[in-house]
Amino acid sequence: MNLTDSLGRKINYLRLSITDRCNMRCFYCMPSVGVVDKGHKSVLSYEELLLIAETAVKLGIEKIRITGGEPLVRIGVVGFLERLAAIPGLQHLAVTTNGLLLEEMASDLYRAGVQRLNVSLDSLNPETFGKITRGGDLKKVLAGLDAAERAGFPPPKINVVTMRGVNDGEILDFAALTLTRGNPVRFIEYMPAIKENGWQRYCISGSEILERISTRYPLEEVDRGIFSGPSRDYRIPGAQGHIGIITAVSGHFCSECNRIRVTSTGKAKGCLFADEATDLIPWLRPPDREGLEKVLKEVVMSKPERHGITQDGYHHKNFNMSQIGG
Ligand code: GTP
Ligand code: 5AD
Ligand code: SF4
Repeated sequence: MNLTDSLGRKINYLRLSITDRCNMRCFYCMPSVGVVDKGHKSVLSYEELLLIAETAVKLGIEKIRITGGEPLVRIGVVGFLERLAAIPGLQHLAVTTNGLLLEEMASDLYRAGVQRLNVSLDSLNPETFGKITRGGDLKKVLAGLDAAERAGFPPPKINVVTMRGVNDGEILDFAALTLTRGNPVRFIEYMPAIKENGWQRYCISGSEILERISTRYPLEEVDRGIFSGPSRDYRIPGAQGHIGIITAVSGHFCSECNRIRVTSTGKAKGCLFADEATDLIPWLRPPDREGLEKVLKEVVMSKPERHGITQDGYHHKNFNMSQIGG
């Protein structure tokens, strides 16, 4: 089946968050204190998440990405992924993780049928990494990246949220990483989500990032694969990994948007920045497959044309990215 929204965009990608808990506390994603864990009852069970996934695939979703919070902290995640991978018609199963638990879990994830991993890694400097993540251990994440490849995964994509005055001094170091490692490195424009004043001070546009890299390295554009998401990809000639730019704010890949999201508490969202969310619980408790199909189609049809962020401001309500999964 083909899922198309009211603007004719083909929707074939579901981002499914399975927890809003996390074993790090990146300052741009979660406040340092005051994050209340959702109670057991409000978080969807694996059965409920599977019902959503099966229904979405029946409607035309071909790719599912599991997100969080940090998805690998949820107990039983490997068994859940195994069941997801077995859904007939699902072509692509991926996970976005902070990498802290990868060293011990990579082999199990691979055996479960996960095809690709994206790893968030905003600094190669232990001190800066510790500051951004409020205590995260860089060594563990680097060990996790290696473990993923040993387990059989293609080199995970590395997501670098690029922030002026925080880690922009490392743009060239990250670019250089692609010379010797196969991991695609994707620089992400900082998106305003969490409540804070002066978010603009962190913003660096994708074009500035490319310019800065070009002062040191030549860059050639690379074709995008069918499932390549919002990133525009480049390569330093002869390098092993690609360099991507995710212009989440300036580039408005909204016109090519192919995705919907469901949070761990069962709220379906047509756009990351939409204030409205559709509560799926009435169709999950008790399960109502037909009703769920109908409501997911409505979520697709309600997708806005684009987000409303500009350099001058934004209109959406503040949220923690960890509640939605990015
Ligand atoms: P691939 O499928 O591997 O291309 O991954 P992806 O980019 O879809 O997913 P990932 O979880 O690695 O997210 C990378 C960055 O893109 C994160 O900062 C996300 O928050 C951001 N992102 C993903 N989807 C959207 C979207 O629909 N809109 C915006 N503005 N940002 C998004
Ligand atoms: N801006 C850009 N990217 C963000 N992420 C989390 N919060 C933000 C933000 N404010 C990224 C994480 C992770 C992905 C799921 O979303 O770093 O790689
Ligand atoms: Fe955790 Fe990822 Fe949010 Fe960092 S960005 S706090 S690792 S969910």
